[in-house]
Amino acid sequence: MGDVVSGADQGDRSGVDGHDGERLQKVLARVGVGSRRTCEDLIANGRVSVDGQVAVLGRRVDLDTALIEVDGAPIGVRPGLVHYLLNKPVDVLATANDPQGRPTVVGLVPDDPRVFPVGRLDADTEGLLLLTNDGELTHRLTHPSYGVEKEYVVEVRGEPTRAVLRRLREGIELIDGPTAPARAALLDASVVRLTIHEGRNRQVRRMCEAVGHPVVRLVRTRIGPIADRSLAPGDYRALRVEEIRALEVAVSTNQVNQRGI
Ligand code: URA
Repeated sequence: MGDVVSGADQGDRSGVDGHDGERLQKVLARVGVGSRRTCEDLIANGRVSVDGQVAVLGRRVDLDTALIEVDGAPIGVRPGLVHYLLNKPVDVLATANDPQGRPTVVGLVPDDPRVFPVGRLDADTEGLLLLTNDGELTHRLTHPSYGVEKEYVVEVRGEPTRAVLRRLREGIELIDGPTAPARAALLDASVVRLTIHEGRNRQVRRMCEAVGHPVVRLVRTRIGPIADRSLAPGDYRALRVEEIRALEVAVSTNQVNQRGI
């Protein structure tokens, strides 16, 4: 292994090794591998590689393009963690268990290791739902400060006008406060694609109701970078490594942006 060079004192732009991007130890800490100190130790001990080469401390990386591995495991996949993408059908509850014994989403995925749904979908909402035992990722995906986008295809009663779409985009006054700016586009006369980055209870239904177009059918089609049109209702699959990494990037950069950094 080459000389270990510390980049801790260097500025953030130019790398000590000619690479651009963020310092490796900072990236590793940000995606939850460990504290900054732990990540520095991992690098110093030669346990981290970038694009197949053992990395030195101070190395700069672009998380979007570099393949970063810790002990040979790509970051984004820590041992023991599982991440499933499910296409939830209607009338299946997005909860880990139901006291009344109704079908739940955990019954549609393997039961070992035990996983939990990430956030909520109403019983009568269909579409993409993540299930995982990755508590840190769940927290970030569901916490409003990370602002991960969720996209819905919404069939509504009536035919929304451009003015209605503008109201949905600009924010609707709901009983629990105004909604944040959203994206809204008409896909068909009564079908709207609505993209929001909050996760309030029954938010899409309440927004559409408030503009006079109650929801007839609600399907979630994207969670941050994750979409899959080929997954049939009731089917699930494991997320691919790149998808897990993309989710981790989404929850790290969004938080950074919100701080205005
Ligand atoms: N908004 C809703 O109203 N319901 C859902 O299930 C998800 C988002």
